[in-house]
Amino acid sequence: MKVAPSIIAARFTEFQKEIKSVEIAGADLLHLDVMDGVFVPNITFGPMVVQAMNELTQLELDAHLMITKPENYLMQFIEAGLDWMSFHCEATDRPEHCIKYIQGQNVKAGLAINPGTPFGVIKNYVEMLDYVLIMTVNPGFYGQKFMAEVLPKIEEAKNWITKHELHCLVEVDGGISNINAVQVCSAGADIVVAGAGIFKMPDYAKAIEELRCSKG
Ligand code: DX5
Ligand code: ZN
Repeated sequence: MKVAPSIIAARFTEFQKEIKSVEIAGADLLHLDVMDGVFVPNITFGPMVVQAMNELTQLELDAHLMITKPENYLMQFIEAGLDWMSFHCEATDRPEHCIKYIQGQNVKAGLAINPGTPFGVIKNYVEMLDYVLIMTVNPGFYGQKFMAEVLPKIEEAKNWITKHELHCLVEVDGGISNINAVQVCSAGADIVVAGAGIFKMPDYAKAIEELRCSKG
């Protein structure tokens, strides 16, 4: 599996150092959680900070937009220098427009889905998508408890992709650590996001390796 450290669990006073550390430790992507205080009960950062992070790393940037009406902000985030960008199906009634817009700018498009939303809500978009982002916590904060009850939805998404011979990847996000990564991997994840599971561990390289090699 590819491993995407989530920067909101890093020490904010040491951004540059933290980003470099996970880059050296073998991260594949850098996951950026964008929260607007409306779609989720927390606020993080916007395009200006994304642009600064882009200047600090060679890693591909994977933005996870937890904002209402993402269609109003797509260009600003893309111009900040993203490689991957997901938005929530619960946050817009124009998912198809957003997917086409993102891909039209040569950025990989992902559709994110909350734990309580059934896979059926997004399944007709999967053939257009570069990835789905399946949440295993309710979005808003890092360090929450992994919701094992979402595992069947990861399997359902993976089976749908396999059955229809689609190229869509499965990214899983929320509460993932070396304790549950095997289950996430077995369910069909291609990419795992981890905040506390990397940045709150003493050895980032070891944490990343344990997440990646979770098939055992
Ligand atoms: C939750 C975010 C996640 C989260 C990951 O709203 O989308 O990316 O920060 O952090 P952990 O792995 O600590 O749950
Ligand atoms: Zn996220």
